[in-house]
Amino acid sequence: MFRLAHLSDPHLPPPAGPGARGELAAKRALSRLAWRRKRRGHDPAVLAAITADVAAQACDHVAVTGDLTNFSTLAEFAGARAWLETLGPASGVTVSPGNHDALVAQDEGRRFAGLAPWFGDAGDGDFPHVRRRGEVALVNLCSAIPTPPLFATGRLGAQQIERLADLLSELGREKRLRVVLLHHPPVDGVVSRRKALIDAAGLREVLARCGAELVLHGHGHEAAFGKTASPAGPIPVLGVPSASATPGHGHPAARWHAIEISAAQVEVIARGLDTATGVIGEIGRYRLPAFRTGIAA
Ligand SMILES: [Fe+2]
Ligand SMILES: [Fe+2]
Repeated sequence: MFRLAHLSDPHLPPPAGPGARGELAAKRALSRLAWRRKRRGHDPAVLAAITADVAAQACDHVAVTGDLTNFSTLAEFAGARAWLETLGPASGVTVSPGNHDALVAQDEGRRFAGLAPWFGDAGDGDFPHVRRRGEVALVNLCSAIPTPPLFATGRLGAQQIERLADLLSELGREKRLRVVLLHHPPVDGVVSRRKALIDAAGLREVLARCGAELVLHGHGHEAAFGKTASPAGPIPVLGVPSASATPGHGHPAARWHAIEISAAQVEVIARGLDTATGVIGEIGRYRLPAFRTGIAA
């Protein structure tokens, strides 16, 4: 049994002061206004409590599905790296970037500045990255793209989807339990079209053809449970709320999922902020009824 911690959307606070001067494009200025409106919805102290709870549960691996930053400034990426280091060595923590981590176009050299060690074992190569951990393979996608102001869409691109098909087939032949990570939900109805994954249909087609055992995403700041087709039956698609969310701002309070994965089943243990007591603890658990694998069959 493999225990995977899934957390998402920490939206680490921007550095104090006017920000990294000269770095802010129009999109960032707009986002900064939006951030002022919603900053009370995220609290570094809440994130610290969630992070401590993740550490205390000592999972085998941690998956962070994006939006570590707000404006993707270099100063914020430095803060993100420092936070990731508190979760354990980079070989035990996988990051899939979010739209806030790609807010404006960056030259390749400084794209996702310094986060490469958390993308996969191969370092700087292209997505998808893969991490083989015993019977589990984490397949890490990047749906983060720069978008026009007020949009938060994502795109994988034809090349990444094509490589994913080969990779899933290969991992299927190796009889691994394939856990796909990405920021944007690959199923309809979780977020509005303004925030959607543009080529979600292409991803679903590859999953339907090549198979996977579980898909994890963030972006919606909601607990979401969906499914998508595979040759062995429906694949569960799980979204987790933001790891820094405070109660009463239109989204669930901070939460993370401890996901216990074996060939027979997946059990999800939701841990988060109890809004009555302010304490982090277990708030529910469930087994995935749809979970089936070609391996277990
Ligand atoms: Fe987010
Ligand atoms: Fe997002």
